[in-house]
Amino acid sequence: MNVLGIESSCDETSVAVISNGKLLSNLIASQHFHKLYGGVVPELSSRAHLQIIMPLLKQALTESKLELNEVDVVAATAGPGLIGALLVGLSFAKGLAFSLNKKFVAVNHIEGHIFSGFLMEEKPEFPYLCLVVSGGHTLLLIVKSETEIIKLGTTVDDAAGEAFDKAAKLMGLEYPGGPLIQKYARLGNPERFPFPIAKLKNPYDFSFSGLKTALLRFKQKEYGNSKIPEADLPDIAASFQNAIVKALILKAEKALSEFKVNSLSIVGGVAANERLKNEALTLASKFGIKAVIPLPEYCGDNAAMIAYRGMLLAKNNMFNSFEFNAYPSLKKINFSNWKSI
Ligand code: KG4
Ligand code: ZN
Repeated sequence: MNVLGIESSCDETSVAVISNGKLLSNLIASQHFHKLYGGVVPELSSRAHLQIIMPLLKQALTESKLELNEVDVVAATAGPGLIGALLVGLSFAKGLAFSLNKKFVAVNHIEGHIFSGFLMEEKPEFPYLCLVVSGGHTLLLIVKSETEIIKLGTTVDDAAGEAFDKAAKLMGLEYPGGPLIQKYARLGNPERFPFPIAKLKNPYDFSFSGLKTALLRFKQKEYGNSKIPEADLPDIAASFQNAIVKALILKAEKALSEFKVNSLSIVGGVAANERLKNEALTLASKFGIKAVIPLPEYCGDNAAMIAYRGMLLAKNNMFNSFEFNAYPSLKKINFSNWKSI
């Protein structure tokens, strides 16, 4: 089975091909120009997707040594994400499948991330604890099978990636902030500033907005309206990163103590964070289980994970009609059997 995957939910346009379970191509075009605006501008994002999607498709097919009519299934992200951006990839995918008389699968972007660990050689084993940490979502889940997902907790305010991005802005750094905070943090002392970790009613929920406010207050107190001096950035970045990673790992540890799972998988853009990865490896070994964290190119938004999830759904005969629409929010697209505890 040859599956073509298409992803366009935010500021990455991506096209991938999976043939009989093997990834043949995964091309990602990132829209770096959003840096100029300090965040993603939805309308500009849609236009940029439109310009690049066709050349990416051609290149992905060339790399995969496949003709367009050899594609069996077209899978595309249907949400959550920016509505205009989603519509570009989804309409393109539906048009392609319709004109080629092939099957179409609508993929939940978050489910793409959840199963992205399967793109690695060492794969997660069901049931596994999955921490989804991206720019838009923070979720703690137990993935029981390809179609059964149990939600333990989520963020009550900002997502982990959003917290990194907002903190970076306060620190005078560009968007996206996560990679830059990581870069400065390498040189800093993570214990210098004790930023707070939120305590919540549901022990598996997260909250990062207090942390962002704490950074804002700290900045105002120390530097008034001036910029944070370059020399102070490493310790602040390291301490801030430490607080986010600690919060994520604490909740994962609590879940591992309570639920018997075979693996721990951390996915989404923030899973590319080296500190988080190291802490996750230590945590998994403490519980004698495997840690699966995708390579950075499968952590951030990519079509390989969409093609993979599309392939799983296709194998379960879960195809969609060409009427299927794009949904900006997660709630409307619980394709799988998502349950709460
Ligand atoms: O999954 P993703 O590419 O897009 C969404 O679906 O949201 O995640 C993007 C997020 C951004 O907030 C970015 O700052 C963060 O992932 N990120 C990182 C790192 N690389 C990307 N955060 C911390 N450390 C990193 N190395
Ligand atoms: Zn994502």
